[in-house]
Parts: sequence; structure tokens; C-alpha cells
Amino acid sequence: MSKIFARERIHAIDGYTPGEQLAGRRIVKLNTNENPYPPSPKVGEALRALEWEALRLYPNPTGQALREKASEVFGIPASRILCGNGSDDLLTIALRTFVGEGDAYAYPEPSYSLYPVLADLQGAVKRPFQLNEQFELPDNLLEQAANAKLLMLARPNAPTGNATPKDKLYQLCADFPGVVWIDEAYADFADDNCLDFVEQFPNVVVSRTFSKSYALAGLRLGLAFAQEHLVEEMLKLKDSYNTDRIAQTLGEAALGDQNWLRDTCAKVRATRSWVTDELSKRGWRVLPSQANFLLAKPAHRPAAELFTALRERGLLVRYFALPRVDEFLRITIGTDDEMKELLNVLAELDR
Ligand SMILES: Cc1ncc(COP(=O)(O)O)c(C=O)c1O
Repeated sequence: MSKIFARERIHAIDGYTPGEQLAGRRIVKLNTNENPYPPSPKVGEALRALEWEALRLYPNPTGQALREKASEVFGIPASRILCGNGSDDLLTIALRTFVGEGDAYAYPEPSYSLYPVLADLQGAVKRPFQLNEQFELPDNLLEQAANAKLLMLARPNAPTGNATPKDKLYQLCADFPGVVWIDEAYADFADDNCLDFVEQFPNVVVSRTFSKSYALAGLRLGLAFAQEHLVEEMLKLKDSYNTDRIAQTLGEAALGDQNWLRDTCAKVRATRSWVTDELSKRGWRVLPSQANFLLAKPAHRPAAELFTALRERGLLVRYFALPRVDEFLRITIGTDDEMKELLNVLAELDR
């Protein structure tokens, strides 16, 4: 083996494994929770109108115009908003800002598989805690997360799809001494959200992404909301120009079309409810989802086997060979036609 140049900690870890992006063949792609619909036409217009010559200039470092647009849409001052190169960028900024090497960092299991990877990269002490039987927060969470500088929670959670009841999370934010980061990547598909906590708690950050509900995963854009004292610290940590001119401009256009957002999320929710009913009728165990995906346990065949069989038929879903979720498939909600195709193929394969 050749000489190792990387830091020991980096060399020792595997890194994050993103869902597959298969090129060159027709597939029904239901594996990375993208939106099956194209983004708002307003985004297309803004892209076509973009002054490409201006790309020679650096973008605004904080995405000020985008922050102001977001302020208008969400009713939160621009000074309480931080733009990121996708919400993954914001999560990295979170670890670097709030968790020093050797500090404790708490997160649930099962949840977004990037959370522990970020801890390894940062040299944080991992304090994972198990969600209970219903994949909800455990009652002794405060004890388990004691001394953690940062508590990371996805609401709705991935890959389980459920959302912690808001009143329970409210109490947790009040009681937890460190920073509570509420990752709301899927909140636009849910019945409610926790954005109002930002006004109430000095220790809460809420993050959102344009990758799911706004159908802009390819753009890389996310927003974090928190009180100024937290945003000011995070601003020091971000790359100088962590969002580019294109993302800032298209992000503004996307935020400007809230009717598109409402209609698209309503379509995804309607499909989600229909597919949940259909799979349940067939004897699958489908966890109630507030997101744009379902975590579902097949009625007849092991999930791993079904995953491979579906893949051979050009239907890509996600399988996690991890404790507690290895009996399930995570299925992104596609168009009605895509879901019909999935259900037809499953009728043949799962018996
Ligand atoms: C819970 C959760 N948070 C954040 C992200 C990352 O989103 P982004 O594309 O904004 O980096 C994902 C992506 O799948 C996710 O599932």
C-alpha cells in the first residue's frame, strides 16, 4: 500500500454513501427522495434570463437578495437566515460551529446516515440514541444526550418518515442545554413544521432544502433559520462563497412561486396516501409518512431480495442493510404513473 497522506481520522472512515444515480438506461428512480416533477416554470424563466456574463464576478457572499426573499416568504428577518450549498453544507457548518473535537454530539438511530459521518469527520464523540418501537424519540433522551453540544433531529425523520409531535419537541428545545438542530428537509410534505421555534428559542436552528419540495436537488441550495447570535457564528465557518450566483438567482425564483410549491406538495401527498393504502391492502407494513417517501416492509419476500429484483426490472428504490430498517424498503413517491408501474411489478415479484 502507498504512503497515507490523509489525517488518520479521515483515512479510518468510509465516508457517506449517496443513493445510486444510474446513467444511460431508463429507470424509475425512487431511491433518493427527489421530486418527480420538474421545478417551477419560474425557475426555468430565471435560468434563461440569467446574465451569463455576470458569472465572471463572485456572488454575494451571504446570498443577501435570497435571504431577503426568504425573509418575505417565511416571515423571519434576513439576519436570521443562512444560505447553504444544499442542506448538507449547512449540517457540516453546524458540526464545525458547535461541536469541537472530543465534544459530544447526539443524534437518533435510525436517521439520516450523514449524521454520524459528520461526527467522524469532526472528531466528535458520537452519542447515538435509539428511537423507540414506533420510531419516536425515547423518553430518556435528555439523559442519553447529556452534555452533547449539539442534538440533531430530522423532522420528518428519514428514513422512517414520521414527525415527532411538535409539543414534545417544543419541550425538548426548552430543556436541552445545547443547540437543537431541526432538519426540516421534508417539512413541506408534512402537516406542520417548527419554524416558529426560531423566534422562541435561542438554541434552535431549523434547516430547509430546495432539493425535495422545490425539485431542485441538482442546484444545491438550503437555508438555515436561527437567532442572530447563532447565524453570526455560522457565517464565520461557511466557505466565503458557499452559494453561487446561479443558485441564489434560481432560489429566489423558486421561493417566488409558492402556488407551484403548494400544488406540487399536494400531488405528492395524494400519491403518498394512495400508495400507502394500496401496499397496506397487500399486507405490507407501511409506516405513516409525513415526507415524500415511504418506509415499508414487504408482505412476502425479504426486502433485500425484492430490492435486487426491482433493480433488475429498472425500478430503483433504497435498501439499508442497517439494524432496525433492514426489513424495509424506502420508496420515494414518484408520479402516479411511476407508482402504478412499481405496484404492477410488485404484484408479480412480492408473493
Ligand atoms: C434528512 C435529510 N436532511 C438533509 C438532506 C440533504 O439535502 P440537501 O440536498 O439539501 O443537501 C437529506 C437528503 O436526502 C435528508 O434526507
